[in-house]
Amino acid sequence: MSMEKMPSPKKVSESKSVMTEMVMPNDANPMGNLMGGNLLRWMDIVSGICAGKHCEAHVVTASVDHVSFQRPIKVGDIVTLEASVTRTFHTSVEIYVEVFAADIKGQNPRRCNHAYYTFVALDDEQGKPAEAPPVIPLTEIEMQRYESAPRRREVRLILSGRLKPENAEGLREFFQHFSPVKNA
Ligand SMILES: CC(C)(COP(=O)(O)OP(=O)(O)OC[C@H]1O[C@@H](n2cnc3c(N)ncnc32)[C@H](O)[C@@H]1OP(=O)(O)O)[C@@H](O)C(=O)NCCC(=O)NCCS
Repeated sequence: MSMEKMPSPKKVSESKSVMTEMVMPNDANPMGNLMGGNLLRWMDIVSGICAGKHCEAHVVTASVDHVSFQRPIKVGDIVTLEASVTRTFHTSVEIYVEVFAADIKGQNPRRCNHAYYTFVALDDEQGKPAEAPPVIPLTEIEMQRYESAPRRREVRLILSGRLKPENAEGLREFFQHFSPVKNA
């Protein structure tokens, strides 16, 4: 890991990033709905901008958590994507991204999906992982996402084979709250 000087801690609002797109015919599938792959691309871009702003560094996507496409988005709809940093660890940063759609007149507004993206900050010289600055959560929802981030991190590190389930201390502690022995 690079030991370049780390930028100072930042509030979530300092890197919040919003992107607006109109769905064009070449973004769509034969049904006239936005293709999932195009939506993932936009989510990756706005999340990457947010992560890069927070870290003041180039970042790469390390993983994307489960994404489900709950509501179709039609050609001509306006898509708004909002990305916020939830927490950083050492060199990685977790971003929460939400997707909203409406038609051009603002009718049929809806929340279409959300996901968590993980990026890794890189140093400029060698492109090696670099320390990411801490996040200062202020609002209730920012604090909730900050507190739950270590558990999501453990899940994705288990799924990617980087953490043994028996070493996932945060998850163990969390699930102990629900254990029948404790609640008996
Ligand atoms: C992401 C990448 C830089 C990690 O490199 P690495 O040599 O494994 O580095 P490290 O082991 O030091 O891990 C660096 C951080 O990445 C995190 N990480 C690595 N793989 C991860 C995964 N699958 N999910 C979540 N986090 C991951 C580690 O937990 C670590 O975070 P931390 O420092 O906050 O604890 C490297 O795998 C890479 O360059 N991947 C390709 C990125 C890319 O091209 N993305 C575009 C997709 S096409």
